[in-house]
Amino acid sequence: MVDMDKIVSLCKRRGFIFQSSEIYGGLGSAWDYGPLGVEFKNHVKRLWWRDNVHLRDDMVGVDAAITMHPKVWEASGHLASFSDPFTGCTVCGRHYRGDHLAEAIWSSKWFESLKRRLANEDDAMVALQKWAAGDGKKLAPNLALVQRPEVILALWKAKRSGYRFVQSEFGELLDAIACAPDGTPHNPCPNCGGQMSEPRPASLMLETFLGPVQETATKTYLRPETAQGIFVNFDNVLQASRKKLPFGIAQIGKSFRNEITPGNFTFRTREFEQMEIEFFCTPGTDEEWHQRWIDDRFAWYQKYGIRKENIQLREHEKDELAFYAKRCVDVEYLFPMGWSELEGIANRTDYDLKQHSNFSGKVLEYFDEETKQKLIPYVIEPSAGADRGALAFLVDAYNEEEVRGERRVVLKFHPELAPIKIAVLPLLKKNGRIVETAHKLCADLRKCWYSVYDDTASIGRLYRRQDEVGTPFCVTVDVQTVGDDKSKADEKVTIRDRDTMAQVRVAMSMLPAVMERLMAGEWAAIHREHGVTKE
Ligand code: GAP
Repeated sequence: MVDMDKIVSLCKRRGFIFQSSEIYGGLGSAWDYGPLGVEFKNHVKRLWWRDNVHLRDDMVGVDAAITMHPKVWEASGHLASFSDPFTGCTVCGRHYRGDHLAEAIWSSKWFESLKRRLANEDDAMVALQKWAAGDGKKLAPNLALVQRPEVILALWKAKRSGYRFVQSEFGELLDAIACAPDGTPHNPCPNCGGQMSEPRPASLMLETFLGPVQETATKTYLRPETAQGIFVNFDNVLQASRKKLPFGIAQIGKSFRNEITPGNFTFRTREFEQMEIEFFCTPGTDEEWHQRWIDDRFAWYQKYGIRKENIQLREHEKDELAFYAKRCVDVEYLFPMGWSELEGIANRTDYDLKQHSNFSGKVLEYFDEETKQKLIPYVIEPSAGADRGALAFLVDAYNEEEVRGERRVVLKFHPELAPIKIAVLPLLKKNGRIVETAHKLCADLRKCWYSVYDDTASIGRLYRRQDEVGTPFCVTVDVQTVGDDKSKADEKVTIRDRDTMAQVRVAMSMLPAVMERLMAGEWAAIHREHGVTKE
């Protein structure tokens, strides 16, 4: 599995994703999509919309406002309970989510170094002593073991002679090496080893004010999910579209959460895009629809290239479920930092429509023509992140290979996701006829597929550049294409496939038709028809 630093560096180097406000030192947790990133993320959203809205006759879309009436958030329950436990270091002031603290300590620089030291010494007492006097001083200067080694080691010696560290005893080890002067254990800071405060809830809602004068303006919130914009429009959409149950409403848009510990590149940020569906169905059919959506959404990621071994479903435990949810299943991806949520698919019952009916006074129900009865539909909610999805597709596509003794970095994107579909490359940039033909070809191809022209390096370098940004096909124009004093133009170009580096030569007049087939995955058939050479 590729490490995240490589992905971050490639994204910056090749114009996928930049740190927000970088020239001012950067804004933590906010990211800007660059020229290739915007194309790529737009493809993620376009494919999601096409497959979930356009290709189904039981779905329609909306695009609701980010700022909503403040009562929406009372009704949804966000104002009362949309919070995470938060804890801060009493020494260095760093903040962490209470439920992420153990993980942050486990993977902190100081704990990694302590684990290495414990593994390399037979006697844990000696390991702790050496570490506290050496790396511990640099990496965790405020840890009790480092600050008061004699006291801690004396306590340790009394209790644990012959100890060897095992992961299941992580908690006991922490209790021993991080404690207050009176011996009471406390959580150590992942950054400096200092004492962490007791966790308390911190709201994730980002406040804003609508109106020119803050004192009299309406206080509202930047939406923390797009879902509520769908629920409040349930009746509008129902009346306007005349849809019958079951049907769904989809929305793609920005959401905002004041996350305590954003991080892991675009995985957790304070501003992000969601792709959400609220699928309304008759109570009693909800469990079956829920399962269908779980299967559909799981298959969707694989359709666009996520490898089977890197994706899994995780059923929520009863005690994890929101109080109104009947069942929830996460689609998880094996990100560089481990298995993490890509999408949640929940059965939200009739909770949201009932809440908005109660708070707004507008009854949100459905009249069943067949039974002549009114009912409040149940809701199945597949809720995905566009940024997280894009990150997963990017990580999964990343490959490093050795080609003729050189490292080749290649993003093996599904052609539909690739930001650039075709690169047109002239073999000799000093030959006017080649350059002119290549420009014209590029302009023609662009009408159907986003294509670029590049003549700024040797052909080998140009191929590697396109590999690194995942361009599925390169088209090369050479002397044979345009002819010279000695030979007639054959009016053929070479198409080179990114993944196999195999090449076929086809007539320029056939290029659009061949490309159409290549984009649809017919490379093997094109090979058979035209013969293959290797790069
Ligand atoms: N309406 C339900 C809902 O919002 P969620 O599990 O909180 O559910 C759904 O969010 C998806 O939105 C997540 O699976 C993830 O892909 C994305 N998401 C949530 N918080 C995020 C964050 N801070 N940064 C990036 N993506 C986030």
